[in-house]
Amino acid sequence: PRSTQLLPGGDLAVGGVSLTELAARFGTPCQLLDEAEVRARARAFRAALPEAEVAFAGKSLPCRTVFRWLADEGLSLDVCSAGELAAARTAGFPAERILLHGNVKTAEDLKAALAYRVSRVVLDSFDEISQLGALATAQPVLIRVTPGVDAHTHPAITTGVEGQKFGFPLDAVPEAVRRVEAEPGLRFAGLHCHLGSQITHVSVYEEALRRLLDLGVPIAQLDLGGGFAAPYCPGEQRFDLTGYAHRVRATLHFECERRRIPLPHLVIEPGRSIVANAGITLYRVITVKPGFVAVDGGMSDNPRPALYDARYTARLVGRHTRASRREVTVVGRHCEAGDVLARNVPLPDDVHAGDLLAVPVTGAYHHALASNYNLVGRPPLIGVRDGRASVLVRRETEEDLLRRDLMPA
Ligand code: LLP
Repeated sequence: PRSTQLLPGGDLAVGGVSLTELAARFGTPCQLLDEAEVRARARAFRAALPEAEVAFAGKSLPCRTVFRWLADEGLSLDVCSAGELAAARTAGFPAERILLHGNVKTAEDLKAALAYRVSRVVLDSFDEISQLGALATAQPVLIRVTPGVDAHTHPAITTGVEGQKFGFPLDAVPEAVRRVEAEPGLRFAGLHCHLGSQITHVSVYEEALRRLLDLGVPIAQLDLGGGFAAPYCPGEQRFDLTGYAHRVRATLHFECERRRIPLPHLVIEPGRSIVANAGITLYRVITVKPGFVAVDGGMSDNPRPALYDARYTARLVGRHTRASRREVTVVGRHCEAGDVLARNVPLPDDVHAGDLLAVPVTGAYHHALASNYNLVGRPPLIGVRDGRASVLVRRETEEDLLRRDLMPA
């Protein structure tokens, strides 16, 4: 996070709180979140695109306190399940700023959304049009389109190309709009697309925008999804938000004028780019072997290297050393060779059991993707701000872990 400060003795502070103290107080592994950074990113989106509705992709960090911060910053929220909606509802997130998404919505998801009167449901299939139509009265909906634009990102997080499971292909959209309009319970409000995640090219958004407008259906709302890249390692660049705003705005104005259609209400759905860099995870070194430094967490709190070949760095916190550095692989405690947290990390030669390691950029899809693999409890999420730390989500206990295992006689 940008609030990271060097402290004496090799310690670091985030949000004005010492990492060594946080580890002592809350234990490890421990996920930290810098509130000021989350709010600053949210503001940066609103400032870059004041005419747009910025809906936080709740799946990237489904935490009620974070939802509150972002409600406070004037953002909307994209939820993709009854569970995420329950978090939003009980955090008091206003229904008129919530969109329900997801390529498979169960009856439970749809009913929960209608009961809370979410402002929009994004429909993904013909089945869903009739399923929601049967339950709803005057529900505004968007249609999710697969615009056939390759976002040039990892295949597991590319969603806008043909031949994957999301949304309607371009040629099915007119029929989808007709079916929505034929459902008395639904109100067609516009189109949506989401091209993928960790996208670095602005041009793919412009191309998707043109393809959606080319469909010629009346679009009161145009949702261009999220996917804006966050930098994880030194040398990586943050998505060019100013360039995006400038080019998307210019293209939208140009294309609408050319077609003599009114400008649609623009919606974007950033997740990662708001929270990723606000996060940092603390681990305790348990064992050192030649080439490997093993810590007390792993793929249960961060499966991203295993799933997407995601790259991370790590640094030693809490002591100074003059030892030379060598590249090691930081690995976890799980029983798999793929349980890697970071590769090619230059750590001091004298790194040893008991040392504290900090892995930055863990705010997005870490808390969200954490599991109980090997019956390991999930780490807590600690918010830091102005020198104070508070537990946003507590550490999972042994009791939590065993609660659902009923062992019937
Ligand atoms: N809107 C929709 C409809 C989405 O499906 C997503 C993410 C977003 C917005 C937000 O995308 P973002 O701005 O965060 O890139 N678990 C993967 C990422 C999966 C993204 C899923 N959809 C990872 O850890 O890289």
